[in-house]
Order: sequence, then structure tokens, then C-alpha cells
Amino acid sequence: MIWTKAFALSLQLACAATCAPKASSPVNSTLPSIDVELTPILDVENNTSLNGELVMDIHFASNETLLVLPLEMANAPSAQYTTETLEAWDRLGQLKLIQSDGTGSDSQPSRFWAVQRATQGPVVVRFKAKPRQIDPDVMVGPLFDIRANGDGLLGSTWALVPLPPDDTAEYQFSLRWNLKHSPQDAKAAWTWGEGPAPVTINGTSATFLYTFWAVGSMSTYPGDSDSEPLSPDYSMYWLEQPPFDVDATAAFVDKFFNYSSIFWKDTSGEPYRVFIRRNQETGTGGTALLRSFTFGWHDANSTTQDRLELLLSHEITHNWPQLNDVNAAGTRYTEGTAEYYSLRLLWRNNQISTETYLLEAYYLNPYVNLTDEDAYNQAWETRQAQRIPYGRGLIYLTNVDAQMRAISDGTESLDTIVLELLDICRASSSQCTEAGLLKLLDKHLGQGAVEEYHTVGTGQPLIQPLPDSLGPCFEVVETQTGPSVFQWRFKNGKDASSEGCQI
Ligand SMILES: *[C@@H]1O[C@H](CO)[C@@H](O)[C@H](O)[C@H]1NC(C)=O
Ligand SMILES: *[C@@H]1O[C@H](CO)[C@@H](O)[C@H](O)[C@H]1NC(C)=O
Ligand SMILES: *[C@@H]1O[C@H](CO)[C@@H](O)[C@H](O)[C@H]1NC(C)=O
Ligand SMILES: *[C@@H]1O[C@H](CO)[C@@H](O)[C@H](O)[C@H]1NC(C)=O
Ligand SMILES: *[C@@H]1O[C@H](CO)[C@@H](O)[C@H](O)[C@H]1NC(C)=O
Ligand SMILES: *[C@@H]1O[C@H](CO)[C@@H](O)[C@H](O)[C@H]1NC(C)=O
Ligand SMILES: *[C@@H]1O[C@H](CO)[C@@H](O)[C@H](O)[C@H]1NC(C)=O
Ligand SMILES: *[C@@H]1O[C@H](CO)[C@@H](O)[C@H](O)[C@H]1NC(C)=O
Repeated sequence: MIWTKAFALSLQLACAATCAPKASSPVNSTLPSIDVELTPILDVENNTSLNGELVMDIHFASNETLLVLPLEMANAPSAQYTTETLEAWDRLGQLKLIQSDGTGSDSQPSRFWAVQRATQGPVVVRFKAKPRQIDPDVMVGPLFDIRANGDGLLGSTWALVPLPPDDTAEYQFSLRWNLKHSPQDAKAAWTWGEGPAPVTINGTSATFLYTFWAVGSMSTYPGDSDSEPLSPDYSMYWLEQPPFDVDATAAFVDKFFNYSSIFWKDTSGEPYRVFIRRNQETGTGGTALLRSFTFGWHDANSTTQDRLELLLSHEITHNWPQLNDVNAAGTRYTEGTAEYYSLRLLWRNNQISTETYLLEAYYLNPYVNLTDEDAYNQAWETRQAQRIPYGRGLIYLTNVDAQMRAISDGTESLDTIVLELLDICRASSSQCTEAGLLKLLDKHLGQGAVEEYHTVGTGQPLIQPLPDSLGPCFEVVETQTGPSVFQWRFKNGKDASSEGCQI
């Protein structure tokens, strides 16, 4: 139930070329700096807030837009500053700001602040954010908004920090925390690093904004007394104790992250952070941004540990296989690979048995006959339509895997194609496209595979797993008719512990 999957994908598209911090880009000693200090005010009961100060070493001309902040991000409200809660100064004193509302370059309804005169010297902006007050009957949305949770606050940077509107310029960003109005044991974390000391990162505004943060009396994984975590780059944060065993979940995902990083040959050393939020409103779900994910739970009934572990594994997998020209069929590839490789790598890492490969959800989905295109276009309105590329992609890719194994006598698999495409993506973001994928299908499996790729996207006929698609120990069984459900079942005499079953 990733409410914002399509949205997160369009985000990944928007920032594929520019968001990720570029370790390899030449160091430019003249990058303009933007330094942010955040001061949570947590020592007031029922009236917490967060003060921010932005120091920008940038010149602005008379009438130029100084800052932009979305008013809403996919319907989740931002801090929505006004000229009362956001003010700016430069060397000559306070700057008079002209506030106006319009549409931002990220297509979100946005608020702009322009300066009346040219600025001199560094520009200092101060703003005051309040957590969103939640009506318990509100529909759960993407987890971008700012929330009070326990003895702290959390949200996305996108909702909190206004930045200059140029979204192609590179800056040298720093973010630090002032914890003088926070509890004694307060901690602060941001996608790119833990506070309170400054964390610096170079990149475009997307690198800075498409991230999450949390501050206050916070539990973490790894905690102080934990046994050693596996992955130095993986951590998890929560301000309120969830009803599920969050330490066990964190350890499970740590193990998966470690195994996956190796499989995907990820040597970036970039962190991955998971934030857990309590939703005051009914509903659970999660939202992914760069190298981080926020999951919201409501009560013990709505979140099972198993489901959360699979959800987190799916989300983390989105870090790797990708297509930059996301379209309807591309979504089948990106969601399909996230589904396929989260399950397959968990299986190979002995973290799940194959029983988890349940296909009913796809076959019983009332939208099972939609084309990729229609499912993509309805993804915003209909959650079940949004799930179509997950199941269809999983079955489709499992079939490609079976075909690869068959023609190569087991020496090659879907891994060959997906890793080859990932290499292309790492080398050249403009080649990281659906056309690049089709070229690889043609190269390895021939033109028939390209035609099949397109046919599967029509939704007709109903896609079925190929007979040997899950390896030698499984057969495909139609377990139900009207509507048809196909499942993988252990062949006679085989079970999860049989030798040579894992592929
Ligand atoms: C460094 O950045 C400045 C200003 O952004 C730009 O004019 C200059 O060309 C850049 N130099 C390099 C080597 O990228
Ligand atoms: C960011 O760029 C500056 C030059 O503007 C460089 O000195 C610094 O090392 C870079 N920081 C990171 C984290 O890459
Ligand atoms: C804060 O809110 C809680 C719950 O709504 C309430 O019980 C408490 O009295 C409030 N405290 C103050 C100081 O308003
Ligand atoms: C909450 O705090 C603000 C200052 O941050 C103050 O102006 C306001 O009066 C406070 N509200 C209540 C209900 O205490
Ligand atoms: C400032 O911008 C406004 C709106 O875009 C425009 O009407 C006005 O002429 C501009 N003033 C100057 C001095 O450029
Ligand atoms: C995986 O775990 C090993 C053992 O703890 C560790 O040395 C390695 O750095 C981890 N790799 C990643 C990518 O976290
Ligand atoms: C969970 O569900 C059970 C049975 O439906 C119900 O009795 C219980 O009150 C629910 N618990 C919560 C926290 O909603
Ligand atoms: C999908 O189409 C098939 C015919 O191809 C039909 O039998 C089935 O009822 C349809 N399913 C749904 C959910 O509309």
C-alpha cells in the first residue's frame, strides 16, 4: 500500500540525473553555499514548533524570486509559511518580501517570495514551522507533511525548507541542529546524516529536499546496546514505540540491505535511513524519497511485521534497478523489478521461504485486465490499479528469467539483463531508458521477447507464469477459476528444504 508509488517514481524520474550526490563530479570550489540550522522547540507542552535559519551565500537581483516552497506535495500540506512566519535579511537589513502563489517546477502548487531590491552579502532567512494538526478522519496520504510524534517532530525536508527556485544549480548544502530546546536525550537524523553537527552534501535542490528528517527523544537502530549491525550505512528511527517488533524488523531489513548492496554492486557508501511514524489518522503506508523511506502505522491491527518487512525490502530495492524515462510499461519494469528482486534476494538470502510468492493479489485484482497505460493513468485515483504493475511485472520478469535460464542452459538469468541495464544507467543516465531495456531483450532473447514485452502491456491474454518459471522444484497450478488464479506449487516430494530448489 504505497500510496504515492507513481508519485515517488515521477520524483525518481525528475531527479535521476541530478539528485543523487555526485561523488564523481569535479570539485568546484566556487559552489554557492546554503547553510541550514534547525531548532526544534520541544520544551512546550502541546505547542511544539521548529525554527529554521537559512544562510545563503547567493546574490539576488531586484524583483528576483528568493525562495519557493510547495504549498502541498501530492495533497500533503507543507509548512505553508506566510510573511509572518518567514522573514529575510541581508547586510543592509530586513528585506521586504513579495509573496505570491503559483505552480512550482515540480508541478506542485507553490508559494514564492521575491525580494524588492537587490541583495548585498549573504541572505539570512528565518522561518517557523508548526506540525500539522491531524483530524483523525483525514485520509492517509503521502508522508511528506510535518508531524509531532512522541517527544519530537518528523517530516520531509521538502515540506520544511524553502529554497531558491533554480532547480538545476548546484549548491554546497549543510544541515545542522540546535537542540537547546529539546529533551536531554534528543537525537536528530536526516537522510544524509545524523546531527546535531552539520552534515554537508553537494547537489541540486532536489538532493537536499527529497529527504526525510526526525528529531527528539528517539529510538534508533542500531541502538546503543544492540548487537553489531551488519550494514554500516543502514539505520532506522522512531519517536513512538510501534506495536510490532521494530528491532526485529530493523535487523531483518539490515540483513536484506547488506545482501542487496552486494548483489547490485553498490559501492556508493550512501546511507539508507528508514523513519517510522505514528499516524493519528486511520491507515498505514509509506513514502520513499532519496535513500530513505518513511513508514506510518496506526494501530496494532493494521500492520503486521511480515508485511512491513516485505514493504521495506520492496522500497529499498527501488534504489537500484531503474529506468529514467518512466512511462506505463516502464512502471511494470520498475515496480516489477522491485517486487521480483525484493522477493528473490530475500529467498536467496534465506530470509523467506517461497511461500511468500503469492500471486492471488494480482489475479483477484478487479483491474487485472487493464492495460499498463490505463493502470498507470488511474494509479492516482485507484490504489488497486496502482498495484497492477507490481503483480504483472513480477510474473512477466519471472518468465523472462525462465527464458534466459532455458536458452543459456542455466548459465544466465534475468540478473544478466537487469545488471547490464544498471551498468548502462550508472554510465549514462540518458541511455537508461525503455529503449535500452528493449535492446537488451532483443540481444539476449530475440525480437520475440520485444513483442512479448508489448503484448504483456495490453493486459490480454491474462499473463500466466511459464511452467518452469520458479526453478526445478515448482510447477504452475491454476488454483481457482472464474477468476483464474495461477500459483507456484512445490512439485511432488519437494519442499522448501529440498536441495537445489533455490534459483
Ligand atoms: C564552478 O561553478 C561556477 C559557478 O557556479 C561556474 O561558473 C564554473 O564554471 C564552475 N567550474 C567548474 C570547473 O565546474
Ligand atoms: C562540496 O563542494 C565543495 C566545494 O564547493 C568541496 O570543498 C566539498 O568537499 C564538497 N563536499 C562534499 C561533501 O562533497
Ligand atoms: C496537552 O494535550 C493533552 C492531550 O490533548 C492534554 O491532556 C493536556 O492537558 C495538554 N496540556 C496542556 C498544558 O495543555
Ligand atoms: C505556542 O507558541 C507560540 C510561540 O511559538 C506562541 O506564540 C503561542 O501563543 C503558543 N500557543 C499556545 C496555545 O501556548
Ligand atoms: C517586478 O515583477 C513584477 C511582476 O513580475 C513586475 O510587474 C514589475 O514590473 C517588476 N519590477 C521590476 C523593477 O522589474
Ligand atoms: C555487509 O556486512 C558486512 C559484515 O558486517 C560489512 O563488512 C559490509 O560493509 C556490509 N556491506 C554493506 C553494503 O553494508
Ligand atoms: C483490533 O481488532 C480487534 C478485532 O477486530 C478489535 O477488537 C480491537 O479493538 C482492535 N484493536 C485496535 C487497537 O483497534
Ligand atoms: C478479464 O477478461 C477476461 C476475458 O479475457 C474475463 O473472463 C474476466 O472476467 C475479466 N476480468 C475482470 C476482473 O474484468
